[in-house]
Amino acid sequence: MTNHRVKMAIKNKFVGCFVIVLLCSACSSESNHALITYPDQESTAFQQFTRQCSSCHRPPMPDVHIAKDWNAIVVRMQQHKEQRGLLVMNHAEQQQVLAYLQANAKKDVIE
Ligand code: HEC
Repeated sequence: MTNHRVKMAIKNKFVGCFVIVLLCSACSSESNHALITYPDQESTAFQQFTRQCSSCHRPPMPDVHIAKDWNAIVVRMQQHKEQRGLLVMNHAEQQQVLAYLQANAKKDVIE
């Protein structure tokens, strides 16, 4: 390698590291929740949750919302299901999904 090539190689490595650092900091500032894996994965409520909430997008982490906000969102998702002609949740299924989300929801500091 010529001296110039060595210099370029070092420079490229430096730029690469810089980009990775930038990407990582972008990720962490975007996430507003603390959970990294779904809680209670052995529970039947979790199974119900993944069954009902996986067809259109990745099931959300339960701590992206506080407990009292989940009901309205689940109701809205039920409407999305209806609109797309998917099987809607019956009352018991909807309650089970809601219970899973609320039990693991983001802690509301004002509560
Ligand atoms: C029929 C398709 C469909 C299914 C099934 C579905 N979703 Fe959604 N979801 C959507 C669409 C479309 C959006 C974006 C529009 C919106 O927010 O209403 C969305 C957005 C979301 C969001 C982001 C918006 C917000 O208010 O934070 C959350 C959280 C969410 N869904 C949770 C769920 C949960 C929980 C379930 C299971 C009960 C579920 N979804 C099942 C279609 C679906």
